[in-house]
Amino acid sequence: MKTVLITGATDGVGRVVAKRLAADGWRVLAHGRSEERGASLVDEIAAAGGKASFLRADLASLAEVRRLAEAVSKQTAALQLLINNAGIGSVGERPGRRESADGYELRFAVNYLAGFLLTHLLRPLLENGAPSRIVNVASAGQQAIDFDDVMLSRGYSGVRAYCQSKLAQILFTVDLADELKGSGIVANCLHPSTYMNTTMVRQSGNTPISTVETGAEAILQLAVSPALAGKSGLYFNVMNESRANPQAYDATARSRLRELSRELTGLKS
Ligand SMILES: NC(=O)c1ccc[n+]([C@@H]2O[C@H](COP(=O)([O-])OP(=O)(O)OC[C@H]3O[C@@H](n4cnc5c(N)ncnc54)[C@H](OP(=O)(O)O)[C@@H]3O)[C@@H](O)[C@H]2O)c1
Repeated sequence: MKTVLITGATDGVGRVVAKRLAADGWRVLAHGRSEERGASLVDEIAAAGGKASFLRADLASLAEVRRLAEAVSKQTAALQLLINNAGIGSVGERPGRRESADGYELRFAVNYLAGFLLTHLLRPLLENGAPSRIVNVASAGQQAIDFDDVMLSRGYSGVRAYCQSKLAQILFTVDLADELKGSGIVANCLHPSTYMNTTMVRQSGNTPISTVETGAEAILQLAVSPALAGKSGLYFNVMNESRANPQAYDATARSRLRELSRELTGLKS
């Protein structure tokens, strides 16, 4: 049985993807923060005849990211799929500039850095599961990273913080694809859909204009489509391969982000 870890599976588009993969016979490791929503997801999947377990971690803490990776390793020796989907929108639960438990700008920490660390920690499991895939759920909302003020201590806005974190995921994906060449693991990223009807969009005050099913379809294409086997380092706008912000294709920017991320997460080079 193939195993997938989906972060942010308790709500929104991640929840739909978790249920779809479970219905297709995947064993689902569903991550989230809310015990209650996690338990109800596991129950729904079990009631439909699928297999799932819930793993709780607040991705605003790198120590919790490390504990999540350990919890995953206790449940499985191999992963065929990792979907880094958890995220906070431009407004979130409380508007304004916030910091993670480690003192980093919150959206950069949760939307990007947590996935960066988790992916590196889970690489051995993905190698054991090869051919395996990594899908980073980014966004069409992208803003170039200002390496002189990554933590947005000046001129903060929630939209800027969100867009910077989403572009960071894309730079990471392009970089990772290079690093993973020959390993049997591919990494791609996408904008799942615009203003899906989810908690994040409702919190931001935007009117939903697409469904979570549309976004789930786009994520599933990168996750399982045979047509994309072996393809890596790509950015998709919903169902179509597309170009991201030019910074994603700037090797110097990617290497700066990689070095900074290793330093911030305590990963050894
Ligand atoms: N909605 C859109 O239109 C849209 C557009 C472009 C890109 N995206 C991207 O799609 C992904 C999913 O978005 P969504 O709209 O489905 O969001 P959502 O409904 O708000 O769900 C967010 C998920 O992330 C989890 N999460 C949030 N903060 C967390 C934290 N600190 N630690 C651990 N988990 C955390 C939540 O867990 P709990 O419920 O347990 O708190 C929830 O499962 C995000 O990466 C988002 O940027 C969405």
